[in-house]
Amino acid sequence: MLMRDFILWLSTKKRVTSAIARRGMKQGFARRFVAGETLAEAIAAAQPLGRAGYGVILNHLGENVSTREQAEAARSSYIAMLAALEKAKLAGNISLKPTQLGLDLNQDLCLALSIEIAEEAKRLGRTIEIDMEASAYTDRTLAIFSAVQRRVGNAGIALQAYLRRSEADLDRLAPLGPKIRLVKGAYRESKIIAFPSKPEVDANYRQLLTRMLGPENKSGIFAAIGTHDPEMIDHARHLINENDLKRTHYEFQMIYGIRRDLQRQLLAEGHPIHIYIPFGADWCPYFMRRLAERPANSWFVLRSLLAESKAEEKDA
Ligand code: FDA
Repeated sequence: MLMRDFILWLSTKKRVTSAIARRGMKQGFARRFVAGETLAEAIAAAQPLGRAGYGVILNHLGENVSTREQAEAARSSYIAMLAALEKAKLAGNISLKPTQLGLDLNQDLCLALSIEIAEEAKRLGRTIEIDMEASAYTDRTLAIFSAVQRRVGNAGIALQAYLRRSEADLDRLAPLGPKIRLVKGAYRESKIIAFPSKPEVDANYRQLLTRMLGPENKSGIFAAIGTHDPEMIDHARHLINENDLKRTHYEFQMIYGIRRDLQRQLLAEGHPIHIYIPFGADWCPYFMRRLAERPANSWFVLRSLLAESKAEEKDA
């Protein structure tokens, strides 16, 4: 837990992130988790996955925009991503981050842009999903999701099992018949609102999953199982078998580049599985969160940075 906190803290330090950002794509280490900086690179990464039978979820990295123009540019980027999925005939959708669509500036602006994107997706027969960011945004994100879902009807939302409130949120959202992506949660939160230990988070994940993958999907929810944790995946498999759930009621979701062995295994077993593919120039905070999840991943970044500074010293 300490290492996770340390990396999450580092991810807020501009000097560290800009050193990584300068080098990450050039040296290739960021490509392990980020498909590239452009939409064309993301589509190129998605194509082999699509051919193999995976669905894809595109995410344009970037968060906490500070002007209306930036929020509108993000909206246009998501609409371009939908067009690119169509053109490439890829099965899948897009996932929005509310703070990238201006949630810090104005909730109505964020809602209006989200509706525009959802309507364009609907016109193309596609869906959208909404990421869940840090807890300061949970209420507003749920309000935006509920409004989009009521109005357009093609939205999904991520819920975080580390938050104590998520069970109540699940109950509140169920009447909307939504798609819910259950994840453990990736931000630094206080133990007042979040379960502090992995066993507690895992126990809550299991419990929420049991509710979402209930008999004959009585839950009224389309369950997206967003985890790389073999134990959570086994629990999901067990519920799917026991309750004889059809592919129309659930899917697995995993992040690009993480546990590709498990991705292949689930696909081979015949489960629907979507790969969440992030791309974009502003990839550093996202990348640092992936490192924090698994500090062992940090070594390959440090090794790579060290190798470059040694080479620079030699050249000097
Ligand atoms: P956990 O961290 O408990 O680890 C269990 C095992 O998974 C590890 O032992 C290892 O085998 C594997 N693993 C996990 N992370 C790894 C990594 N980085 N590298 C290598 N192996 C790894 N969060 C959020 O707050 N809001 C959101 O909207 C989303 N959206 C989202 C979409 C999708 C499709 C996924 C899969 C995840 C998210 N997340 C997220 C992130 C999520 O909250 C969580 O931080 C990560 O998925 C890590 O938790 P796990 O359940 O995967 O495993």
